[in-house]
Amino acid sequence: MSAAYKKNVVIFISGTGSNMHALIKASEQLDYPARIVGIISDQEAAKGLEIAESYGIKTYFINPKACGSKASYENTLNETLVQLGTDIICLAGFMYILSAEFCTLWDGKMINIHPSLLPAFKGLNTHQRAIDIGVKFTGCTIHYVSAEMDAGKIIAQAVVPVYKEDTVDILSKRVLSAEHILYPKTLQALCDTDISYDRQSFYHAG
Ligand code: GRF
Repeated sequence: MSAAYKKNVVIFISGTGSNMHALIKASEQLDYPARIVGIISDQEAAKGLEIAESYGIKTYFINPKACGSKASYENTLNETLVQLGTDIICLAGFMYILSAEFCTLWDGKMINIHPSLLPAFKGLNTHQRAIDIGVKFTGCTIHYVSAEMDAGKIIAQAVVPVYKEDTVDILSKRVLSAEHILYPKTLQALCDTDISYDRQSFYHAG
């Protein structure tokens, strides 16, 4: 694929960055339709920043506390995104809650991965809640980001079983393995389709 046709993707992280890593690895394939042009973190100690640097990808620690206000923080985010020529934002374990204004600005161009089969288990502690309630299947969801948390239109899902003896640790590893397959596949499908025009849910995995 000619480099000119690749979409410019920026990934937002706050921590480990294993999904970010899966996206970076996928983007190293010559025919992958996205290039990762930058990683932005709201946490200086995010482990994912080191991983990205080891691939020679530009990283940015943008500190919400140093920006003074949410509006000023999000302006800085936006300026960085524009400088990088961003087509698509992938949230991957980004814990900062973006404002409705920011979500509107990037509407249809910002996606997130969530560790449950939405609309079940929005928010945090998804695996503990899945185990507690006794669901037999859970998984992960990729969705567009909207102002309401974990409520944007669903793009893709992958399903994993939940076993009686599962702990949060075991289940989260099973779900993460599915995430690492689903996120690169979904980003590829979105880039191939043109994210800004086709907003239909079209892809299922599991
Ligand atoms: C993943 O479980 C993702 O679904 C959720 O946060 C976690 C991030 O993990 N949004 P990592 O930083 O990608 O390893």
